[in-house]
Amino acid sequence: MSEEYMFVVKDLSKGTTKRGSPFYSLMLSNETEGTVSAKVWEIREEIKRGSVYHFYGKWQTYQGNRQFVVENYDLIKDQISPQKLSDMAGVKSVSVSVFDEMIKILEEIDGTNEAHVFTKNVLMKHKDKIISAPAAKSIHHNFPGGLMLHLYEVGMISMMIGGFFSNTPIVKDSYGKIDNGLLLSGGLLHDIGKIETYTHNALPEYTDVGLLEGHIPIGYALIKEELEEQKMDEMFKSKLLHIMLSHHERQEWGSPVAPMFIEAQLVHYADQISSKVATFDSIFTDDTHDGNWTDFNRNLNRSLFKE
Ligand SMILES: [Fe+2]
Ligand SMILES: [Fe+2]
Repeated sequence: MSEEYMFVVKDLSKGTTKRGSPFYSLMLSNETEGTVSAKVWEIREEIKRGSVYHFYGKWQTYQGNRQFVVENYDLIKDQISPQKLSDMAGVKSVSVSVFDEMIKILEEIDGTNEAHVFTKNVLMKHKDKIISAPAAKSIHHNFPGGLMLHLYEVGMISMMIGGFFSNTPIVKDSYGKIDNGLLLSGGLLHDIGKIETYTHNALPEYTDVGLLEGHIPIGYALIKEELEEQKMDEMFKSKLLHIMLSHHERQEWGSPVAPMFIEAQLVHYADQISSKVATFDSIFTDDTHDGNWTDFNRNLNRSLFKE
């Protein structure tokens, strides 16, 4: 018997059957069923990510996994509130206290340090956008407040790694002191360009500017303007801009230059740690696969072990 559900489309991809007909693979979600995978074999009209539909169909077991086979669907045209959409999509909520924590850390470590004052001013100026922006469309920190959480994590992880190496003979003897002010500022600001890169809602999409320019150039331009406005020292200016540009480490990963001093390299690794941990979390959260292994994740090129 056919069943009816109201679902938000969390993700979708279009494929073609062996006979050449198009079909949809969907990731659907609501408050009671959680995330479910679904197939639409007969496309009546285009399905959009982030839209809510009545779906009619049957449950089926395919290769040991539960799947909803859609027989019919109707777009819900009424306005759905952002809160309802977040609840349906199971989107994480991030407390604004994370932002306050970033400011507190800058003040408590050293409220007079010029790098800290600069970073605090930039964060405060863009607070409204930072607290509502996601850090990605999918994969990691892809929810409102996700950017703030990611910046906080990268700032903290950078400080922890930097703090550890400041006390080992390697950095002490061969490199000199790590500049903690630069390191923390780089961590907290590295992705600030993302405030303009995605829409600020439960299921983010790229903005036109985000697609045309990319978050690294947007962040670089924003920080450059702030550095000039706040008349920062030339060396700090060059080094912070270098961190903005090099935090993805490689050209093929989006960075025009590779990290060329220790603080820049550490921000890159902190960025990797924060994004990978959040990626694992989102894979486990959205997993629809039965058994010990998650669905194959194309981004990581592996399944994850659940036990
Ligand atoms: Fe980035
Ligand atoms: Fe990042």
